[in-house]
Amino acid sequence: MARHHEVQDVMEQMSYGLYIVGSRSGDDADGMMADWVTQVSFEPRLVALAFENDARTLENIRAARVFSINLLSQDEAGMALAAKFAQPYYDAKIGGRTALAARVHNKLDQIPHTLSPGGCPVLDGALAWIECEAEQFVAAGDHTLVIARVRDAGKLREGEPLTSSYTGWSYSG
Ligand SMILES: Cc1cc2nc3c(=O)[nH]c(=O)nc-3n(C[C@H](O)[C@H](O)[C@H](O)COP(=O)(O)O)c2cc1C
Repeated sequence: MARHHEVQDVMEQMSYGLYIVGSRSGDDADGMMADWVTQVSFEPRLVALAFENDARTLENIRAARVFSINLLSQDEAGMALAAKFAQPYYDAKIGGRTALAARVHNKLDQIPHTLSPGGCPVLDGALAWIECEAEQFVAAGDHTLVIARVRDAGKLREGEPLTSSYTGWSYSG
């Protein structure tokens, strides 16, 4: 048991970038906080992201294939923007009463954004964005690994990108 805690402690010390993944289902766009995001190949340029099996974002990506990754700034503004994406699209995902279970949160409604060439959300407050096209879906325990090709990217402003060590928010263990 002690060992289990040690494993969790060490896992929580791993550091990640903190991103907002943008996806869409028709005209309905969604944004999701994610830190299990990394480049995995130079040529072709591939990235891999791990999604909870029941994330709305994963559902959107399975259908549309295209999605965006927003890089936020490592400061109070970047952290405040990230915090707006902490809740899931489906209330049912966080449990609770049946009446609430049907509710959904359009997290992007109040957040100024445009769309990438492929139609995925690019936050006005972001530092930069990457547009990707999903190529493989790999089952990985309680997550699904999406391996995707980088199709396009854009820089909105200079700045240091947000990381989990700056926010202190943990998604590991
Ligand atoms: C700091 C932090 C990092 C997160 N990283 C991930 C991640 O890498 N993959 C994931 O599936 N969920 C991650 N989550 C949880 C999702 O943001 C959360 O499940 C989200 O509500 C799913 O949204 P959706 O259902 O609208 O797609 C993270 C949450 C936090 C607070």
